[in-house]
Amino acid sequence: MKVDGRHFRSIWRSADGWSVDVIDQRRLPHELVISKLTNVAEAAEAIRSMVVRGAPLIGATAAYGMALAMRDDKSDVAIERSYLRLFGTRPTAINLKWALDEMRRVLRPLPPSARSDAAYARADDIAEEDVVINQGIARCGLALIEAIAAKKPGEVVNVLTHCNAGWLATVDWGTATAPIYLAHQRGIAVHVWVDETRPRNQGAALTAWELGHHGVPHTVISDNAGGHLMQHGRVDLVIVGTDRVAANGDVCNKIGTYLKALAASDNGVPFYVALPSPTIDFSVADGLAQIPIEQRGGEEVTHMTGRTEDGRIETVRIVPEGSPVANYGFDVTPARLVSGLITERGVLKADRASLAAAFPERIASAAE
Ligand code: MRU
Repeated sequence: MKVDGRHFRSIWRSADGWSVDVIDQRRLPHELVISKLTNVAEAAEAIRSMVVRGAPLIGATAAYGMALAMRDDKSDVAIERSYLRLFGTRPTAINLKWALDEMRRVLRPLPPSARSDAAYARADDIAEEDVVINQGIARCGLALIEAIAAKKPGEVVNVLTHCNAGWLATVDWGTATAPIYLAHQRGIAVHVWVDETRPRNQGAALTAWELGHHGVPHTVISDNAGGHLMQHGRVDLVIVGTDRVAANGDVCNKIGTYLKALAASDNGVPFYVALPSPTIDFSVADGLAQIPIEQRGGEEVTHMTGRTEDGRIETVRIVPEGSPVANYGFDVTPARLVSGLITERGVLKADRASLAAAFPERIASAAE
């Protein structure tokens, strides 16, 4: 998508042909800083420290991390060691495991001399495939927005989203934002309610930044405002992303997603989840019981970072010294609250039969 008219992706091979450039998402929305990854340790640290984040981008970064690893050491041991190093960075987004499995599947049978080129080629493909998948999600989700627009001619379609499932969370287009960007491109009047998404504020910092720089009308709201807006008919549909969809259609996404789904259900607002197929995990039968929920450091809750009037970036404490805090990164929305799953192969019911019919190959890979 565009930043003030210039096309950007969230990750790309740099001009030297081997190192990998990413946008440092910890610095947004205040500064657009490009960070260079030159080895597997840096790739792992970029994922862990959330220089890069968002399930599909975590997967793409891990794939390039394996490529960087193969540049330095092409041995069987290096494949396993770098797989485990990258796998241990974040627990919830299944795209990480999907991408690492892909890389290992390609690399293992090859002679060491062929591994570096093959790793870069597969990582490039994973990044390209992500863009193509998201364009598919855009087309499938567009029909939902068009249907609402047709019912209220001359009026704006209001979409609420949570966290950042935008182009910054993927390689390009985003998942939840893909239908929104396409609707905007097609001249449909869309407006996005952007949840701030405490504690890391991915909505306020990242979604607002990318929508604003691309020119999509939006309004940032506190996390608690969504239910109120739904009660007053100000939300036509909710579209969120996801880090993992279980075989039964349960959806794991950024903490607070479940509360939005409850409010949407209570108010008859359609609640859709946009996902690329690598986010489906058929090895998990029951999302609520089985998906690991990341717990992060308490400082994300006790402190907030922002820019002062005179331009300094400062971090301040907002919780009393000594108060214990808990920081759950994700929650699971039960399938019964999900109106539909927007995938690259169509809008599906959130249940096992629909997922299995649309993505049979994912069942086979889960069994491996
Ligand atoms: O902790 P984050 O910022 O990596 O969480 C991101 C999300 O929860 C996104 O909604 C999800 O990864 C989908 S991204 C297309």
